[in-house]
Amino acid sequence: MKVFCVIVFVFSFVFVANTEKDDEILVFTVATEETDGFQRYLESAEFYDIKPIVLGYGAEWRGGNIKKGPGGGFKINLLKKAIEPHKNDASKIILFTDGFDVVFVDKLQEVLERFRKFEAKILFGAEKFAWPDPLLAEQYPEVTEGKRFLNSGAYIGYAPEVYELLTREEIQDDGDDQLFFTKAYLDEEFRQKHQFKLDHKSEIIQNINGAATELEVKVIEDKEANTEIYKIRNTLFYTDPLILHGNGAAKQSLNYISNYVPNSWNSIEGCITCLKNQVSLKEIDDEKLPLVMIGIFVEIPTPFLEEMLEKVYNLEYPKNRIHLFVHNAVQYHSDVVSKFIEEQGVDYLSVKQIKPSDGTTEHAARDLSLDYCLVKKCDSYLSLDSIAHLDNPQTLKLLIEQNRTIVAPMLTRPGRAWSNFWGSLTAEGYYARSNDYMNIVWNEKRGLWNVPFVTNAYLLNATLLNKYDRSQINYKNGLLDADMSFCANLRNLDVFIYVSNRVDFGHLVNPETYDLTLAEPDMYQIFENEKEWEERYIHEDYPGNFDPENAPKQPCPDVYWFPVVSRKFTSSLINMMETFGKWSTGKNDDDRLEGGYEAVPTRDIHMNQVGWERHWLHFLQKYVRPLQELVFIGYYHDPPKSLMNFVVRYKPDEQPSLRPHHDSSTYTINVALNQVGEDYVGGGCRFIRYNCSVVDTKPGWILMHPGRLTHFHEGLRVTSGTRYIMISFIDP
Ligand SMILES: *[C@@H]1O[C@H](CO)[C@@H](O)[C@H](O)[C@H]1NC(C)=O
Ligand SMILES: *[C@@H]1O[C@H](CO)[C@@H](O)[C@H](O)[C@H]1NC(C)=O
Ligand SMILES: *[C@@H]1O[C@H](CO)[C@@H](O)[C@H](O)[C@H]1NC(C)=O
Repeated sequence: MKVFCVIVFVFSFVFVANTEKDDEILVFTVATEETDGFQRYLESAEFYDIKPIVLGYGAEWRGGNIKKGPGGGFKINLLKKAIEPHKNDASKIILFTDGFDVVFVDKLQEVLERFRKFEAKILFGAEKFAWPDPLLAEQYPEVTEGKRFLNSGAYIGYAPEVYELLTREEIQDDGDDQLFFTKAYLDEEFRQKHQFKLDHKSEIIQNINGAATELEVKVIEDKEANTEIYKIRNTLFYTDPLILHGNGAAKQSLNYISNYVPNSWNSIEGCITCLKNQVSLKEIDDEKLPLVMIGIFVEIPTPFLEEMLEKVYNLEYPKNRIHLFVHNAVQYHSDVVSKFIEEQGVDYLSVKQIKPSDGTTEHAARDLSLDYCLVKKCDSYLSLDSIAHLDNPQTLKLLIEQNRTIVAPMLTRPGRAWSNFWGSLTAEGYYARSNDYMNIVWNEKRGLWNVPFVTNAYLLNATLLNKYDRSQINYKNGLLDADMSFCANLRNLDVFIYVSNRVDFGHLVNPETYDLTLAEPDMYQIFENEKEWEERYIHEDYPGNFDPENAPKQPCPDVYWFPVVSRKFTSSLINMMETFGKWSTGKNDDDRLEGGYEAVPTRDIHMNQVGWERHWLHFLQKYVRPLQELVFIGYYHDPPKSLMNFVVRYKPDEQPSLRPHHDSSTYTINVALNQVGEDYVGGGCRFIRYNCSVVDTKPGWILMHPGRLTHFHEGLRVTSGTRYIMISFIDP
């Protein structure tokens, strides 16, 4: 591909010799610069061995602003000059297409054969809209089937007739080419004389605007070559167009289609485009690796931020090739962010921190980060939002190696269809779902996908920042939010935006229910962010409980002992309770209970008093019940029920111990929340029938014992400090 591009660009003003087979057809396009769309055009041409002659390359565009309004006379004037030598050669056929938004999906031979069947001397593509002058619509001949109006993005004709068409009138470079051709077509005499026709049913040319829903990506198996070919089917006219033009608002549709055609992806070879233009960092010495800036944006209260930052730190890339830029807008997170910067930040080349007190808006901070990247002369810029967890430490390297202007690692909420990209766009520029969105999100299709929008995590090649003005590349675009603005600006520049799910890169946390008014808000995230919750709060040895080699510990008869929750869990639970602070009086009267009476009262706080009962019951079901089934065989109760779930506080001057009693439960769990010998002296649980005590309890370990009959027990005296335990009476 690379070699091919070079040839085209070097000889772009010279006629490139055609292959013998396509001897009589010359393909022209106009491209003034190398955009992603133009590169795609060339790649599709190369795939079918088509050698287009590129006009105007490197020239300043003089055709007006086509996106905003009419323009394009420049194209006519360039082509006129280029085909002048052939104006008398009736054996030459001219095929003209736009360069930025066209894709070939078949060979020229096929184009020629179909063109001959039209018995036309000039054939233009057709479209649904009469543009640029809708008032001319009624002058068009009626059609019984097919699209009625002319589009000038692609046309084909014999050289003498095309030349006559181009010279029919003078046109300014900034004049409107489509209007120019429309007038010629509506001139009945000219039309008849030159057998000037429109391809109403997209037999050759498919203008996609207004027709996207008629098109289907169609798979053809090629058994011989053990591959698949993707074609486009027009389901309205039962045709298979050969040239696709993503005119006007249809650019996104063409981007979607070109994720498959002509040869981007198939289910046998997988992602073919992925392999193009890749770079390798393997042979590069550390100190010569691209200079990276990582921008971290904490714009909203975010669960599990520490872990997110830890994953940034764990990215495998030399820290002395990374500048950090951190914007934190959330006061609550200041400690975690500052700690990260103080402890880990020193390893990086530099760190710039913007604090909540600076009052910088998200838009401004993101724009500032681009400036900072330019100042630091960074080669690549990785933008990360606080909800983006890069679990794969290779992510940064892999994204750099992918070598795209902008590429996002696909991140999803685990088990959800929520992701950091959009497959499609509404006409207003908002979210729409593409046909393949689910296949991509669930990794049924893996590859590199051209999409209209990415967010939360993406790598930007800094050449983009140098190529365009900062007034074109920024996070401001009307009232849209920052990333929507950013992507809209990139789309306006025809920069292709990619998302990759070639491998698993990571996931998104869900911040929707994160409530900073709670003490220990992350503890409440057991439902929304299960994965992080488990990683932070479940004991690292928990899985070992199920190892058959590993008999459960039994400190007393039928009293089992398991590591279940982490130290972070135990200290967080204590903090939740102490922050709430309304410990019970330890009297028999207890208005929190249905009967209003507690026979063996403790100083405690119930889980429902801190709004954590639902969470605790889920915890019992998911983590405790399987342990019970392991040791009390044959008892099966799912979900476990528990009405009494509470944290008890023992201290010498309050309640130091608890008299012997039975629990009203089938079985009880008793979780040690702090460390004997460090946080308190004494304490423990004595099972009277067996004269057996457990005193060396370990934080995060659960004691599990039968409730009603055999395990009469007492709480041993705490002689100094404060002891906390968490109790549940399961299946009362
Ligand atoms: C990286 O991408 C650019 C732009 O597409 C291309 O010009 C360059 O050749 C690519 N690098 C490699 C090593 O392929
Ligand atoms: C990315 O930047 C490097 C220079 O750092 C450049 O060589 C490469 O072509 C760029 N790739 C793209 C896709 O722009
Ligand atoms: C109970 O155990 C303790 C220590 O193990 C022992 O000193 C005591 O005599 C035992 N009591 C009875 C009644 O067996």
